[in-house]
Amino acid sequence: MSRDGNFAVLILAAGLGTRMKSSLPKVLHPVGGLPMLCRVIKSVSFLKPGKIAVVTGQKAALVEERLKAHLEETPDLPAVEFYRQKLLKGSGRAVQEAFKTVKNFNKIMILCGDAPLFRPATLGRFVSFFRREKCDAAVLTADLDNPSGYGRIKRGIYGNVEAIVESSDADSAEQNIKEVNSGVYVFRAGALRDAIKDLKRKGPKREYYLTDSMENAFKRGRKVLAFKIEDWREMTGINSRKELALAGKIVNKRTNDALMSAGVTILDPDNTYIDETVKIGRDTVIYPGVHIRGGTIIGKNCKIGPAGLIDDCKISDNVEIKFACCIYSSRIRENSAIGPFSSVRPGSDIGPGAKIGNFSEVKKSRIGKKSKVPHLSYIGDTEMGSGVNIGAGTITCNYDGVNKYKTIIKNRVFVGSNTNLIAPVKIGEKAYIAAGSTITRNVPPHVLAIARAKQEIKTFKKKIFK
Ligand code: UD1
Ligand code: MG
Repeated sequence: MSRDGNFAVLILAAGLGTRMKSSLPKVLHPVGGLPMLCRVIKSVSFLKPGKIAVVTGQKAALVEERLKAHLEETPDLPAVEFYRQKLLKGSGRAVQEAFKTVKNFNKIMILCGDAPLFRPATLGRFVSFFRREKCDAAVLTADLDNPSGYGRIKRGIYGNVEAIVESSDADSAEQNIKEVNSGVYVFRAGALRDAIKDLKRKGPKREYYLTDSMENAFKRGRKVLAFKIEDWREMTGINSRKELALAGKIVNKRTNDALMSAGVTILDPDNTYIDETVKIGRDTVIYPGVHIRGGTIIGKNCKIGPAGLIDDCKISDNVEIKFACCIYSSRIRENSAIGPFSSVRPGSDIGPGAKIGNFSEVKKSRIGKKSKVPHLSYIGDTEMGSGVNIGAGTITCNYDGVNKYKTIIKNRVFVGSNTNLIAPVKIGEKAYIAAGSTITRNVPPHVLAIARAKQEIKTFKKKIFK
């Protein structure tokens, strides 16, 4: 689908979000791992608008910089232009000032940067409704059991919209109206120009309400309709930390539902947190308390958890990640087992068929086929071949306080427990390292290296214990 040259989108994101009580602008707070403003842009970009303009204001430079960085990482998004609102006095003022950036388009959709849960299909249906009904202005609405905080929709006798009354200004009859404003509107450019002309400052903060443009349009004889959606969750606006948590739950549920439909077992979806960007194969079982983030890809028939964090990893088929592991930016090959309580840090490549066990940490290391690091070890900056066994408590001493050095362990080496390998050091194929050794020099293949003080047995001249 090519871009619609008649259609522009304006996203309002200039408010600080005072009710969040945060130094981070509200629209940058992440929901399901993505800043809420990016979610709005992503959803609306499916409509292929000819232009997307974002109105910034509070901490504008920060919002613009963070947003640009995110958009660069996301392919297929249209160019986004910014407009800085000068007088920060409400959503109405934002549109009055930014109107000039979109005035040459016939149709203008306005969204709030703090309502990030609209599905692209819902926005698409709204635009179709607007076109089909030949509206001059339209607003997306839903019925809420608890409408407090949202603008109430006042309908006329023909079902048309006569006004939107803000929560703070609503009388008791209006407070009881369940149909509320989502903050998403479509206008014909001419209707919008007229409707925002003479907005008055209102409410406790003396702001210009965009919502009053609906009443203005109605009074000018324009056709103003509401498009009501069934799933109220989509229009969740985020003004407080409580609503932020609610939105996170909604996104999480959507993601987990989609994964379960595709054949992934999630034992407790309310307590499993998976970014939408994650891909998981069939018959993989995710136990409660697991967080999976970023560009992680997990294969088929894996078992993950309970508990733990996996961030930006590629995990092949039949892998088991046991209780409470943290795994970052690493590759875990098929049939490997990690955990319980293991830490795999960025740049590691483990398996196939390898084992990283209880309380072991691996950093930026290659652990070869069927090699084992089963207990209490630190393996860092290491190149390990296949069939290696690392005894409990082995440490690669890779750092001298200034520089990092590599350890090379060739195929089928056996490292005894409590060994220190002082890098840079190389252990030859099938070598044996005696337990308790501190290895400072290279060990050739097929030898036994012992580097520890010899045990002595001394007798006491006098009995010292009774
Ligand atoms: C707004 C609507 C309300 C609707 C709700 C849906 C108004 C007056 N009210 O209320 O009817 O039910 O959204 O979530 O619009 N903004 C600017 N410039 C400003 C002030 C705000 O760009 O000077 C932006 C904010 O960043 C935000 C959006 O406008 O993205 C809405 O502002 P907010 O203060 O959150 O309005 P609500 O009280 O949520
Ligand atoms: Mg809001």
